[in-house]
Amino acid sequence: MNALINPEMEQALIDAARPILEKGRKGDWAHTCRTIEYARALLQDEAGEADIVIPALYLHDTGWSAIDYQDFIDATPARKKETRSLGLHMKEGARIADGILRDLRYAPAQRSRIVSIIAVHDEPENILALNDLSATLVMEADRLDRYGRRSVKRYEDMFGPDYFKKAAWQEGLAMRRDGLKEWFKTPTAKLLSREMAAQIGLLDEETS
Ligand SMILES: [Fe+2]
Repeated sequence: MNALINPEMEQALIDAARPILEKGRKGDWAHTCRTIEYARALLQDEAGEADIVIPALYLHDTGWSAIDYQDFIDATPARKKETRSLGLHMKEGARIADGILRDLRYAPAQRSRIVSIIAVHDEPENILALNDLSATLVMEADRLDRYGRRSVKRYEDMFGPDYFKKAAWQEGLAMRRDGLKEWFKTPTAKLLSREMAAQIGLLDEETS
């Protein structure tokens, strides 16, 4: 499948999203770039639509720039999904994305799908309930960045250099192991997530 969108539109999305993401959590812009990279790999082999998946990923985390997310930083890995700011960043992100896509005169039908995806992008059940392969690819590409060597630096940047040494990190490991089964639905993402989990030693205990 075509993993690319119109280059001028992509540049316009970058120009709009990057300054916003640089005001969000530390590392959000680099995270976004990695999700685009993973999405392109998925779109090579899966039948999603690049003109939904790629804009949704550029814009998905813009909401962090608009909120106070200290509760998210302070929560243990298993509690982060219950924080007020996690829900709020999706709501604000959907609002910001809608404004940007309107400014760029993105096709209204696609704009509304992208905004709906962003509004629930961190709620796997709600993403899957959309019954939309492109939405699934957005979640998969976003969550692949919880695995792989480059994700380690991202978490240290966001939560401090001792994050992986804290006892609560065990929760993070358990969530990622469960996530391998729960979050990745397409054959390509299943394969890629296991390769990336192996890179950070997540599968070691299974074999020992
Ligand atoms: Fe997010």
